[in-house]
Amino acid sequence: MFASPQENVRWPPAPEGAHHFIEDMQAVGAIPKKKEVAIVEHPQPSLGRDDEALVKSLEVGICGTDREICTFVYGDPPADSDYLVLGHESLGMITEVGNKVEGLKPGDLVVPSVRRPCSEPHCAPCQADLQDFCATGDFVERGIKMSHGFMTEFYTERDKYLHVVPPSLRDVAVLVEPLTIAEKAMAQVWPIQTRLPWVKHHHENGKPSGRGLNAVVLGAGPVGILGAMKLKAEGFNTFVYSRSQAPNPKASLVESLGIPYISALDTPLEALAERVGSIDLVYEAVGVSSIAYKVLSILGLNGIYVFTGIPAPKAPIEVDADLIMRNVVLKNQVVVGTVNADGQAFRSAISDLGVFMEKWPEALKSLISRRCTIDQSRELLLDKATGIKNVVRFASA
Ligand code: BGC
Repeated sequence: MFASPQENVRWPPAPEGAHHFIEDMQAVGAIPKKKEVAIVEHPQPSLGRDDEALVKSLEVGICGTDREICTFVYGDPPADSDYLVLGHESLGMITEVGNKVEGLKPGDLVVPSVRRPCSEPHCAPCQADLQDFCATGDFVERGIKMSHGFMTEFYTERDKYLHVVPPSLRDVAVLVEPLTIAEKAMAQVWPIQTRLPWVKHHHENGKPSGRGLNAVVLGAGPVGILGAMKLKAEGFNTFVYSRSQAPNPKASLVESLGIPYISALDTPLEALAERVGSIDLVYEAVGVSSIAYKVLSILGLNGIYVFTGIPAPKAPIEVDADLIMRNVVLKNQVVVGTVNADGQAFRSAISDLGVFMEKWPEALKSLISRRCTIDQSRELLLDKATGIKNVVRFASA
């Protein structure tokens, strides 16, 4: 059973009368054996390898995956630990570097990637630093699968997994990791869609452009809104389709980008298809299969549908499978799933965040709806989801 949100659990329990474990750091941990989420006493890390850096946490974002780990349907602690330190959306500052660290120095702002390769020498993707495509399934993910995450005061990481962020992005850089989902998605979309010569030859600034193509983003959470920014910046005629009726804060944010927000409660599917025209791309960021499959059934000719959501296991639902199969074939459609992100996606996300900051500074900043202390983190992890992106603030440096 969870403790009530106000009552913070410490693990191991504090001795009578003690308030703090001064010798250890505070971390937010999920303890599967106890089905509890707690502020845990976590050992201070120190540099191990020569290519490691010590990173001080500044901010860590909370996402659906973290909340799901807290329901214990997903996520595993490292083999030698009872708890998993949560958090995979991190912004940190380098405080110390090992002898062989390249390209990093104390004071640099960094964002770590999430997935680490498996140890199988024949796993071609992992050997090529493309563990987002790991072929054995034995990868680990910081804060998710068998490796502690970043929701703690300090952590160590190898230089190759840390991406430097310019100080001008300090306020929004915690959004880099959720933006990498769209970056990887588009890194899949373009090679697939440029099989079509008329798309291939449609370039702007040396890159394929979405100009003249219609994109629908499903969902108006952080992944959806960042995806919509990416698509709009790439020239797509972009729409966001989400459940809640407007006006609401997410709808206003979307509209402030010059992107129409369409509520599923006001606009049934047929009307959506009519409003948008032929749908060339769907970026699914809602994680709800019923609506995701309905929208798949209205994908246009030669269209591509990208799934990014990871729904929790639920009872089977009915879908019009004949319609979908007929469309996929008769309309030359592509359905692609994408998970995690490689180093290139992190570099692109940092660069695109700079572009978004120029285009839409206020909207981008307002994506972060709440910054809380570590003591308030359990509330954000366990209570009903509120706001847009909630962030745990560790330090203000
Ligand atoms: C993270 C990915 C991770 C995926 C599956 C997502 O929330 O952003 O990095 O691969 O969960 O664990």
